[in-house]
Amino acid sequence: MWAILALTGRPAGAGGPDPLDELDLTDDTVIDTVVKESQRVLPSVAGSLPRRVQHDVEIAGSPPVPAGALLVASTVVEHRNPDVYAEPGAYRPQRWLDGSAQPGPYQFFPFGVGARRCLGAAFADLQLRVTLAVLARAGRWPRLLTTRVDHRNKSGVNMAPAGRIMVEAGDGRARRAPLTGAVTRLWRS
Ligand code: HEM
Repeated sequence: MWAILALTGRPAGAGGPDPLDELDLTDDTVIDTVVKESQRVLPSVAGSLPRRVQHDVEIAGSPPVPAGALLVASTVVEHRNPDVYAEPGAYRPQRWLDGSAQPGPYQFFPFGVGARRCLGAAFADLQLRVTLAVLARAGRWPRLLTTRVDHRNKSGVNMAPAGRIMVEAGDGRARRAPLTGAVTRLWRS
């Protein structure tokens, strides 16, 4: 759903060329980059992979973290690291093709990381790719009717739209509507 939103909407006032103009969405490799970029900018698990620390630890030169502390990893923070992603706020699927985005496992983790990584990740990715590919091949890109989009945290974990997002079946061209609302703070270009 966030991927479809990223393809049909664009933060109001975003300057520069629309990155989608250069994308052939009938190409599976390109669809793959759209899935990754959507999960980078608008991850559905945004800020909570809590872990209770079992013993005192230091992480990458951090101050000591005492046993019993709760550690939280945030995709929204790590997916915007400018050392890893040039212009991190820009929605630019091409970064995954041109070699400029080569994150390590702790720099891109829409499905978590480590022993408790999502068991359904491959299945969820396949669903995303198939849905987008079917839409692209049918030439029926949805057109966005709701242009103010906020987000809320569901169950303390999942980031979801705060209200309904209405779309209508399109005429085959990916036209992007200007978006406003809290979601644009996560996603600027
Ligand atoms: C886009 C869709 C999905 C996202 C973004 C997602 C994300 C995540 C994340 C971040 C975790 C790790 C939680 C943590 O480390 O505390 C997780 C765990 C898990 N996910 Fe998903 N997930 C998705 C879809 C699915 C699907 C479709 C299934 C099942 C078919 C699934 C099954 C699981 C299970 C069983 C775990 C727990 C793994 C464990 O604790 O060992 N997920 N998911």
